[in-house]
Amino acid sequence: MPSTAPTSPTTDSPVFAPFTLPHGAVLPNRLAKAAMEENMAAYGQLPDEALFRLYRRWSRGGVGLIITGNVMVHAEALTGPGGVVLDARSPLEPFRRWADAAKSGGARVWMQINHPGRQVGANMPGVAWGPSAVRVDVGKNSGRFAEPVEMTAGQIEETVTRFAETARRAEEAGFDGVEIHAAHGYLLSQFLSPLANRRTDQWGGTLANRARLLLDIVGAVRATVAPGFAVAVKLNSADFQRGGFDADDAAAVIALLAPLGVDLVELSGGSYEAPAMTGQSGDERTRSREAYFLGLAEELAASSPLPLMLTGGVARLPVAEQVLAGGIDLVGMGSALAVDPDLPNRWRADTGAAVELAPVRIADKAVASAASMARVRRQLRRLGAGRRTRPGIDPKLASPRSSGSSAARCAATAPG
Ligand SMILES: Cc1cc2nc3c(=O)[nH]c(=O)nc-3n(C[C@H](O)[C@H](O)[C@H](O)COP(=O)(O)O)c2cc1C
Repeated sequence: MPSTAPTSPTTDSPVFAPFTLPHGAVLPNRLAKAAMEENMAAYGQLPDEALFRLYRRWSRGGVGLIITGNVMVHAEALTGPGGVVLDARSPLEPFRRWADAAKSGGARVWMQINHPGRQVGANMPGVAWGPSAVRVDVGKNSGRFAEPVEMTAGQIEETVTRFAETARRAEEAGFDGVEIHAAHGYLLSQFLSPLANRRTDQWGGTLANRARLLLDIVGAVRATVAPGFAVAVKLNSADFQRGGFDADDAAAVIALLAPLGVDLVELSGGSYEAPAMTGQSGDERTRSREAYFLGLAEELAASSPLPLMLTGGVARLPVAEQVLAGGIDLVGMGSALAVDPDLPNRWRADTGAAVELAPVRIADKAVASAASMARVRRQLRRLGAGRRTRPGIDPKLASPRSSGSSAARCAATAPG
């Protein structure tokens, strides 16, 4: 894979135009590395050299914004053994070095902050919390997930404080912003979903109640960080489940977020139960193999009071341009940048540059999604070790079923 040094723009593509966020920070271009949980934490759930190397690689590749893989706000709630945690007790130096690495090539860096809620493996120690005691349902594989307990009011309030504390410490470590993960079936997405949230108190029932935890967290984070520090939210454009959180709900939540000082909403979709974020969805609106959620995102962009970013399935410049032409401000890319971190710079020189990942042909959608993520995660590990990527690997070989230990299985199935 050819690697090119950063250059000044040689194409007049709109993807290379800077973007000013509502709170004043300027992103050098419209391309963002989307969050991908690396599962590469060192002892103490801390970032170390492998992650620094990976993030230097992305920063040099020409992307304007780097969003880290999800960093957990609660050390007792991890999706896998390699999860990074930033809480009140974490030493800050490894995070300073991580932020420096990510900014070393000129990109801005935001930390994605997350609580997994019920989306944790049955074999993980710690807590399995949910808005209600409803386990993840992935048919015959459901036993892999922990049985969650319904959160108490005290645990919900503690969670608001944890997010604010992690954001405060991320700023102290030199990150330019945080992205609060409210998509993909994690805790905040569980609260938003009428399927996972069966509460009858102030956190359940109406959409305003189901959104309360997210809104309280956004408010607490914004109140804790400096005005120029970016605060973003990753939200599902839809959960793609009958009776679940849908596009109308997404539009309503964006409107509720607008007065709270949010800089950007990243749109994605799906969860473990309906893994649309990796393109494994039977839904008509996401069947396109590229820019899966573009139709829904364009509808949301028409009325959104906040800047939007769209992630899912983008690997070619014309598709990235199509996203911007649809009224969306930023283009998020995960898998493509795991395969080729230099893709943005290659686009400056060659508008036809692309990466190809063979489609995953496994009938069970949850297993197919886990296999395609495991294949991407292998590329992250290779880059972290200073090696070249090998996207040609058969996803079935990278799949959790073929991984040895239960820890590896758990890490490999974490949906991100
Ligand atoms: C290995 C892997 C890990 C992921 N981890 C996260 C995560 O930590 N947080 C998140 O919001 N999305 C996560 N995702 C989803 C991506 O951000 C993105 O939404 C999805 O991969 C679709 O974009 P793509 O087609 O460009 O890869 C992950 C995806 C992959 C492949």
